[in-house]
Amino acid sequence: MGCKVLNGRELATRIKSELKSEVEALKKKGIFPGLAVIIVGNDPASRVYVNSKKKACEEIGIQSFEYALDEDTGEEELIGLINKLNKDDKVNGILVQLPLPKQINEDKVINSIDPKKDVDAFHPVNVGKLMTGNPVFLPCTPAGVMELIKESGIDITGKECVVIGRSNIVGKPMAVLLLSQNGTVTVCHSKTANLEEKIKNADIIVAAVGKPEFIKGNFIKPGAIVIDVGINRLEGKKLVGDVEFETAKEVASAITPVPGGVGPMTIAMLMKNTVKAAVFQKEGI
Ligand code: GUN
Repeated sequence: MGCKVLNGRELATRIKSELKSEVEALKKKGIFPGLAVIIVGNDPASRVYVNSKKKACEEIGIQSFEYALDEDTGEEELIGLINKLNKDDKVNGILVQLPLPKQINEDKVINSIDPKKDVDAFHPVNVGKLMTGNPVFLPCTPAGVMELIKESGIDITGKECVVIGRSNIVGKPMAVLLLSQNGTVTVCHSKTANLEEKIKNADIIVAAVGKPEFIKGNFIKPGAIVIDVGINRLEGKKLVGDVEFETAKEVASAITPVPGGVGPMTIAMLMKNTVKAAVFQKEGI
């Protein structure tokens, strides 16, 4: 039985080139999408992500505005900047790269973003819309995972889906999206009893635990689809996911690699949300 490697980089490139054409057409109608990207402090991983997001904007023709703030920036200053960007017509999307330094309350910051510009879909208004089945923006990483599952050719209806991780960014919205496509969803986490048994039962596994190569091939049901959201840097600098790729691909029917799987898809979905935000702000929802 062959295992299909789901190439997120290729799929993201395809999506971005479609968005590029869309943006060219929008510009002729006077719509110029813009994304503000805010980074606070010097986290090297955040810097890499922010640079990738800016590069994607450039590729597509979205104007990006970077705000790099010092590590010791106060909450009020950050929220002041967001309030200004909320009113700026050139800015259609506002992204605050997480995590934030400890003196800043993330919830307060997210709550200060205008939901119409919340291209991460982290604001409670957008979380609520997703939960009730009327989303405007889909959260980027879970939306990217859904596209990759679609690529595998599997119909989620009736499938046993196991999400490992319960974060607001990935695990929780992931569960909601799988449920919306009629999956039977189990959300597992660090306190889950008999985790291996739960994973073994899954037709679709979404791993977002943040533990390098935690899920081995022998945990996986033969033929399952494995989506690896983890990005872990080993001491030798090598990037690995939450799944042990070499053993898992012997058992799974489809699997995403790390790097080149979910990561590029997250960015493609962010671009999609930014274009959507620009259209909605111009033409109304
Ligand atoms: N940190 C980790 N993932 C994300 C994401 O998708 N968006 C933002 N803003 N920060 C993150």
